[in-house]
Amino acid sequence: MTHCDDQPPHDSPPETAGKNHPVAPLTPRGRKKGKIGPQAQARLEQMLPELLLPRTADRAGLLTSWGADPERARLFLEIGFGNGHGLATWATRHPQDRFIGVEVFLGGVAGLLWRIQQAELTNIRISTQDVHVVLREAIPSASLDRVFIHFPDPWPKRGHHKRRLIQTEFLDLLATRLRPGGQLSLATDWPHYAQWMQEVLAGHEKFDRPERSKPFDPEPEDWVETRFQHKALEAGRSVFHLLYTRCAT
Ligand SMILES: C[S@@+](CC[C@H](N)C(=O)[O-])C[C@H]1O[C@@H](n2cnc3c(N)ncnc32)[C@H](O)[C@@H]1O
Repeated sequence: MTHCDDQPPHDSPPETAGKNHPVAPLTPRGRKKGKIGPQAQARLEQMLPELLLPRTADRAGLLTSWGADPERARLFLEIGFGNGHGLATWATRHPQDRFIGVEVFLGGVAGLLWRIQQAELTNIRISTQDVHVVLREAIPSASLDRVFIHFPDPWPKRGHHKRRLIQTEFLDLLATRLRPGGQLSLATDWPHYAQWMQEVLAGHEKFDRPERSKPFDPEPEDWVETRFQHKALEAGRSVFHLLYTRCAT
């Protein structure tokens, strides 16, 4: 028996995590701009409009509009891609697949645009909106093969935990956009957030963790080290990986 069919529904969430928080308290408070140099600004103005995620009715429409075969191409989403190093590396490794990157920090978006230009990538589309809006309005139902959420903002203060991205209501929404059998890859260097993720996901009926006899998963095979991971390792912190599967029903 798997988690998918033996779990009570998430009406009895764990004590510490993810409960009673509406989707509303979004992690980013408005779009983060930061310092944008003239070259980054030019890339945002010239390249971004062409690469924005199109609105389509379904997965096949999205992949077809993007020149991909819906029967063969996989559709990946990275939420909070930072400077885009991971996303651009995966897109380079898998030219036949299609990648959606969502990031509210425009300096990071400009960084991804630079990587797209350097590697002449044609398989990435971008949204600079909050991921809750993107999931609701631009990602078709049951369309994603894999979702990466690596080093999400940890919001370590107790009073800020409600701003964490991983919440039951967020997972409710994400589950509707993942294909049955699709994967959710999580990573964090904050032990408390790692535990929080385990607790929220353990209480969610739509997600199963195949290796749940072990507390964490090994680093995924196609892993790419990011700036945030590098900083964590340099500071002597460990990285916790968690891999979940979207249940079939
Ligand atoms: C700590 S960084 C990690 C970046 C990258 N994944 C890495 O490993 O280097 C988290 C990123 O998520 C973005 N982010 C946070 N909440 C978001 C949201 N609701 N929608 C879109 N992006 C978000 C932030 O702007 C930030 O760049």
